[in-house]
Amino acid sequence: MAILVTGGAGYIGSHTCVELLNEGYDVIVIDNFANSHFAALERIHMITGKNIKLYTADLTVQHQVEAVFMENEIDAVIHFAGLKAVGDSVKVPLRYYENNVTGTIILCNLMKKYHVKKMVFSSSATVYGAPDTVPIKENSKLKPTNPYGRTKMMIEGILQDLCSSDEEWSISILRYFNPIGAHESGLIGEDPNGIPNNIMPAISQVAVGKLPYLQVFGNQYPTVDGTGVRDYIHVVDLAKGHLKALTQTIKDNGIEAYNLGTGKGFSVLELVFAFQSVSGVEIPYQVVEPRPGDIAICYADPNKAKQNLHWSAERGIREMCEDAWRWQSNNPGGYSIFNELEPLTF
Ligand code: NAD
Ligand code: WQD
Repeated sequence: MAILVTGGAGYIGSHTCVELLNEGYDVIVIDNFANSHFAALERIHMITGKNIKLYTADLTVQHQVEAVFMENEIDAVIHFAGLKAVGDSVKVPLRYYENNVTGTIILCNLMKKYHVKKMVFSSSATVYGAPDTVPIKENSKLKPTNPYGRTKMMIEGILQDLCSSDEEWSISILRYFNPIGAHESGLIGEDPNGIPNNIMPAISQVAVGKLPYLQVFGNQYPTVDGTGVRDYIHVVDLAKGHLKALTQTIKDNGIEAYNLGTGKGFSVLELVFAFQSVSGVEIPYQVVEPRPGDIAICYADPNKAKQNLHWSAERGIREMCEDAWRWQSNNPGGYSIFNELEPLTF
């Protein structure tokens, strides 16, 4: 069975490609490498011994994407490709709407044209905005607070309308909580450009000496130690969730949204202490002003995915830290061919 993976060279896409190849699927990747490296695909080959068919193409350029559908018999699509930096989306919203929303419309039009009506889509817990209650269920109100989150909510609406218009479509919307960690081989992982926006790359870049210290964004939240609480999920568990969703999507018709999280929250400092304990490296930190738009507590009710997809997260916080550290310490410069370490300053 051939699966088209958009954004397959990225952080979550690359881990999902490994799981797909290990399960015997044929994998075709579309990526424009806007936020990823070709080396990730070479590493996937090192892990699995299998080949991916790569199209260096942009989802917003219709003829580039159409070539992929013309040249391949595709059974289903896992759609990761998108821009994901919240702060950036506030500065350049049109780029986010065009890339994420227009890119998805072009993809769906071609799927329809070539009779490929099965999709697993990457959404985000960011669609819930500041939740009224935790744990968050899938039927909670969607009220994203930034343009990035609104692109995800809009795409979810478009996919709903598509499924209402034609019952042959089958779509799973996966709302990820906070993916961290890396493949246990230490060969693939998260490699952000510049100063990381997210907590785990920030911690591991401090550990490796690339950043001087961790900025902790606020310690006056109503949480166990005053720092923000999130539902961290190991990226390999997340990748495995995609395979479960894919199986269900291929079997069923209609559209469903699923939270992919562990259902447990950890504070920033709990994560820092867990990382220190598994790595043996001290993480100096400074408490700074809260980050605008941040919420105090966010964690999932993951029961719908457990019941309908027969999936639940298996890896705990220590394994997430161990694997993130193995990736970062083996690749201090990320995927850069020179593996050089360029120190950053705030
Ligand atoms: P990523 O940036 O590592 O991967 C996205 C990939 O899509 C990259 O390889 C990028 O080059 C590619 N891409 C972007 N725009 C494209 C376009 N127009 N044409 C072709 N390729 C394009 O991000 P990720 O962390 O792997 O996230 C994957 C998906 O999951 C994204 O849609 C993201 O919004 C969503 N998501 C991520 C997180 C997270 O914390 N990482 C959380 C929730 C949801
Ligand atoms: C986690 C906690 C921060 C960095 C974001 C997006 C969301 C989704 C996942 C894509 C918070 C604190 C962080 C740092 C810190 N992505 N922190 N110092 O904000 O929950 O979610 O990524 O869909 O849309 O908004 O994740 O990793 O940025 O922050 O203290 O240097 O760590 O305040 O409490 P967040 P995060």
